[in-house]
Amino acid sequence: MPGRAVRGATPPAPVGERRAALGLLLQVLLGWGSAQQSGSCPAPCECSEAARTVKCVNRNLTAVPQDLPPYTRLLFLTGNQLASLQPGAFLSPPLPELSLLNLSGNHLQQVEAGAFASLPSLRQLDLSSNDLARLSPEAFGNASSPLEELNLSNSLSNQSVVPALAELLGWGVLGNLSRLELADNKLLFLPAGMFSSLPNLQHLDLRNTFLVSLHAVAFHSLAQLQSLDLSHNSLKCLKNATIAQLRSLPALHRINLGHNTWVCDCCIQHLVNWLKESDQVSS
Ligand SMILES: *[C@@H]1O[C@H](CO)[C@@H](O)[C@H](O)[C@H]1NC(C)=O
Ligand SMILES: *[C@@H]1O[C@H](CO)[C@@H](O)[C@H](O)[C@H]1NC(C)=O
Ligand SMILES: *[C@@H]1O[C@H](CO)[C@@H](O)[C@H](O)[C@H]1NC(C)=O
Ligand SMILES: *[C@@H]1O[C@H](CO)[C@@H](O)[C@H](O)[C@H]1NC(C)=O
Ligand SMILES: *[C@@H]1O[C@H](CO)[C@@H](O)[C@H](O)[C@H]1NC(C)=O
Ligand SMILES: *[C@@H]1O[C@H](CO)[C@@H](O)[C@H](O)[C@H]1NC(C)=O
Ligand SMILES: *[C@@H]1O[C@H](CO)[C@@H](O)[C@H](O)[C@H]1NC(C)=O
Repeated sequence: MPGRAVRGATPPAPVGERRAALGLLLQVLLGWGSAQQSGSCPAPCECSEAARTVKCVNRNLTAVPQDLPPYTRLLFLTGNQLASLQPGAFLSPPLPELSLLNLSGNHLQQVEAGAFASLPSLRQLDLSSNDLARLSPEAFGNASSPLEELNLSNSLSNQSVVPALAELLGWGVLGNLSRLELADNKLLFLPAGMFSSLPNLQHLDLRNTFLVSLHAVAFHSLAQLQSLDLSHNSLKCLKNATIAQLRSLPALHRINLGHNTWVCDCCIQHLVNWLKESDQVSS
């Protein structure tokens, strides 16, 4: 009580006013007015400005929240109901810092042209566990994307999306992609030029994708490829030409061929020879 009486000697109201005025002055001087506005957080989300992270998880959201803070670097929108992503879905307001976007588990069916355009810092995109039936080849727009990791595991609702995916990857805007996850999809076959515009690809996961053959697809441009997972498919044979392509990739040292339905006809001889000689294959 005595302490309070001493502090009470200065009239409290003016101190408050002076502090408020000082605070306002500081805000104006340091530009915190806008920072305070940018610190707002959409109602269904949890935001941490210190961690540059926004989480809007398992909220049954049907649209991307439109008032995301511009500082957002890591955005988790997992477990919602975002059936469709429109052009510029992440552009109002612009998110210049957005580096990781996780859209896993959204029953996402449609990604339109430009849905991921104009995200100058986007490095990681997780689209796993969705039901994509329509995917625009121009989903990343027309300009080079900085994307490095794309996760499409268990996300293609059926095989009809594969040509669109091949066109998207071949579009030439994902030249910085280093990891591509396509596991647990019903791909069946891979279009010829699917991987020809991914010069920096290091890791390719094609595990459990119902592949019956690799006859058509070309791997020869994947000069940086380090690991290739082809396990849990229905491959019967690898053509000599395919083996030759894989053998020639300088960085490739981990190939998983386990759990396929290899057939013992004359074609298998090349594969057997390769397995005997090569230390690229791990399984
Ligand atoms: C989301 O929808 C499901 C099913 O309708 C419901 O059980 C759940 O409570 C909803 N979650 C939220 C956060 O509204
Ligand atoms: C995205 O979220 C899913 C579901 O929570 C999680 O399993 C996955 O690891 C996350 N991906 C990234 C890149 O953070
Ligand atoms: C891709 O997504 C699947 C399913 O959510 C997850 O299990 C896997 O860890 C993810 N891969 C990477 C590299 O994040
Ligand atoms: C696959 O997708 C196409 C195009 O969206 C659709 O017409 C077809 O019914 C789908 N097939 C299955 C088996 O879901
Ligand atoms: C890409 O370029 C074409 C032709 O220049 C244009 O018609 C189209 O709208 C562009 N797409 C996007 C997503 O910017
Ligand atoms: C691709 O990576 C290189 C090297 O890290 C970088 O200089 C370039 O800006 C990246 N491209 C894009 C479109 O971000
Ligand atoms: C298969 O390729 C190897 C080199 O990769 C070559 O030595 C061999 O002659 C080829 N066999 C046939 C039948 O083309």
